[in-house]
Amino acid sequence: MAGEWTPESWRGHVERQQPVYPDATALAAALRDLGAYPPLVPAVAARRLHLDIADAQAGKAFLLQGGECAESFAEFSPGNIQALHGLLSAMARQIEAAAGVPVIRTARIAGQFAKPRSADGEEQGGRTLPMYRGDIVNGIGFNEQARTPEPERMLRAYAQSAATLSHLRALDGDTPTYTCHEALLLPYEQALVRRDGALWHGSSAHFLWVGDRTRFKGSAHVEFLRGLSNPLGIKCGPSLEPDLLLHLLDRLNPARMSGRITLISRMGAERIGNRLPPLLRAVAAEGHPVLWSCDPMHGNTVKANGYKTRPLSRILCELGAFFAICRAEQMRAGGIHVEMTGRDVAECTGGTDPVREADLGERYHTHCDPRLNPAQAMEVAALAAAELEHDARARAA
Ligand code: PEP
Ligand code: CO
Repeated sequence: MAGEWTPESWRGHVERQQPVYPDATALAAALRDLGAYPPLVPAVAARRLHLDIADAQAGKAFLLQGGECAESFAEFSPGNIQALHGLLSAMARQIEAAAGVPVIRTARIAGQFAKPRSADGEEQGGRTLPMYRGDIVNGIGFNEQARTPEPERMLRAYAQSAATLSHLRALDGDTPTYTCHEALLLPYEQALVRRDGALWHGSSAHFLWVGDRTRFKGSAHVEFLRGLSNPLGIKCGPSLEPDLLLHLLDRLNPARMSGRITLISRMGAERIGNRLPPLLRAVAAEGHPVLWSCDPMHGNTVKANGYKTRPLSRILCELGAFFAICRAEQMRAGGIHVEMTGRDVAECTGGTDPVREADLGERYHTHCDPRLNPAQAMEVAALAAAELEHDARARAA
């Protein structure tokens, strides 16, 4: 069935969302350099997260993942890292107080650079250029030079990730902040694979996930991830059928280890009611150990006033539905996954001090998808806290 895994066995599979580098010599040189660098994350720390997620599956912890949609070179500063760290901690404390269990803090940072796109090219004023794929690949400016994939960007992303991790460590008290990102840019991820005894460790982050656009049958991304010992995520969007999900679970977790797989539902407020229950039931019937988490962001993106935005009302609606569905199916709602920033941006609409559609022109800084600002993120945390408190009370009664 599955052939032997090696760090490059993904090359025999179907690759989507990969840039084409015009300079093969520069690409080889950058990958050779990366391959010789120290791991960004030690294997022992990824194993600790694996155990923490196993605890969450057993109801003894809750997984919080939050941070950047697309990390950028321009917005790299201690202030931004500190603000995100502080926001993640504030959300975690609120949820901990209500749920009565520790919250696992996992930041979408220190590696969240590469973005999947729905088209390969972007047209502006009659000109078409390659799509922006994240600062680790090319530049956001609309000109030929910026949009050409440059291998040296991977070295800069590595350096920024290393410094970000070091700053996170300095900000952490006794509770670690883990890192996570979509393992999208396969040459980069492969170059950072390290041996860990008999295992292989993806050293670019503690937790890696496969995105909704690359989680298909025969995918190079799934092949790559199956050989790593890291805890893994699978984004579950509205087109995912139960059969494919079970196939992916067999590929990524054949030994059925608890703590290994987090399923991140991102259906959208309108579709979660129809699309999530069949997946929950199929996974439960098959007995696969997973943690169910909710990403209420990616299924709720709309266009308003010329901007990509996400109404907070829809985000809260999907999150509330997630908890209700888990309760009805007698499954544990184990985590939330959000795009947010510690800066006071106006990218998602709504909230108690509402961002209006007309406000989207100012303080709209994201390089890709709209993020929650701190006040909006705290509203999301408050809803999760209220739902978890309700569940804790019901169990006690
Ligand atoms: C993301 O998390 O940034 C992302 C692109 O998600 P998805 O794969 O669920 O669309
Ligand atoms: Co995104």
